[in-house]
Amino acid sequence: MVNQQVALSPVQLGSITIPTPVVLSPMAGVTNWPFRVLCEEFGPDGLYVAEMVTARALVAKNPKAFRLCRFHSSERVRSLQLYGVDPVIVEQAAHMVVDGQMADHIDLNFGCPVPKVTRRGGGSALPWKLDLFAELVHRVVSVCSTAGIPVTAKIRVGIDADHTTFLEAGHIVQEEGCAAVTLHARTTAEYYGGHSDWSRIGQLVQALDIPVFGNGDIWTAEDAAAMVAQTGCAGVAIGRGCQGRPWLFSDIAHAFSGNSERFEPTLGQVGRIMILHARLLVEFYDGDEQMAVHDMRKHVAWYLKGFPVGGSTRRAFMECESIADVEKQIALLPQEQAYPESVAAKPRGRVRYAKKVHLPYGWLDSRATSDEERKALFGDDPMDASY
Ligand SMILES: Cc1cc2nc3c(=O)[nH]c(=O)nc-3n(C[C@H](O)[C@H](O)[C@H](O)COP(=O)(O)O)c2cc1C
Repeated sequence: MVNQQVALSPVQLGSITIPTPVVLSPMAGVTNWPFRVLCEEFGPDGLYVAEMVTARALVAKNPKAFRLCRFHSSERVRSLQLYGVDPVIVEQAAHMVVDGQMADHIDLNFGCPVPKVTRRGGGSALPWKLDLFAELVHRVVSVCSTAGIPVTAKIRVGIDADHTTFLEAGHIVQEEGCAAVTLHARTTAEYYGGHSDWSRIGQLVQALDIPVFGNGDIWTAEDAAAMVAQTGCAGVAIGRGCQGRPWLFSDIAHAFSGNSERFEPTLGQVGRIMILHARLLVEFYDGDEQMAVHDMRKHVAWYLKGFPVGGSTRRAFMECESIADVEKQIALLPQEQAYPESVAAKPRGRVRYAKKVHLPYGWLDSRATSDEERKALFGDDPMDASY
């Protein structure tokens, strides 16, 4: 049911207005510009964040990191996410972004739960160390404020139920001058399992003056409206729900304007979106069709989710090596097949709990970082911190 009462007001991030505060949550390996452009075509007034870029890789001028920083000329707000553990390195990366006019907005990643990242004190492990967290945010905001670039932070509830950090982290980012904060309402231990605890979003909204974007388990436009109604958040951020469904942004925009119109594409329409996506990926990979169609494989699985398409057809997609191959497979699909209602409201993508939370040795013993700890952490700050 559409909740007619729920509406969103525009959110201001510094000088940037987000008329419909619906955010494409950054997803490594997913939210490169081809996918962002598709999403933005369906919901032109939101915010579409690039996948995280490792500050150290950017500072080292790693070509892969630079590719992740590319934007399409049609993108209204160029939104980058930086990840790092060493405040000086992340500050240097922010300087590069500012000096090179590489983006209009910077989000900071404090939400990553991946062992490779948290065992080095990064992502969702970092807000536990209050001094390190505050210093990192402070340095980046200082660099960006001179150029009028708003900074936001993305956090989780904490490390586990006994070590929550979101309220302190929210106060710190607000005091340090961040324009908004996004809360993925799970702990690191919860990883992507179960359902996120939206009551935490409501608590953060109550505690802060800056806008809070709620994140976690929005699979439909109705979920987005329900999150806003239940928590009072200023906007919503959507990750897995739009995998294979870039049109979810138009559904959500409709829901917030009290409109019950929903886009339920036939398989033929989905196929046309897939071809467009694949072609944009070829551009992203500088004409390399093979890289584009390989990148496209995971998207194909998401696009076809729930459609009655057999295993042999799905396998044929996985064997495509060119755009012509992809087009050929798409042409063979039953074009009039209706959108599978059964999967529309169901979780997609990652859904499991962490087996174990990996942290640096002795991490939870103190909320402050010793000099020794810092030395060990910063030497270990990875170039590649992918999800
Ligand atoms: C494949 C994948 C990659 C992700 N990459 C990032 C990332 O680069 N930066 C980040 O802050 N969060 C990342 N996330 C987390 C999402 O942005 C989002 O917070 C999370 O999926 C919860 O929202 P959802 O329930 O709408 O998916 C990633 C999630 C997934 C599934």
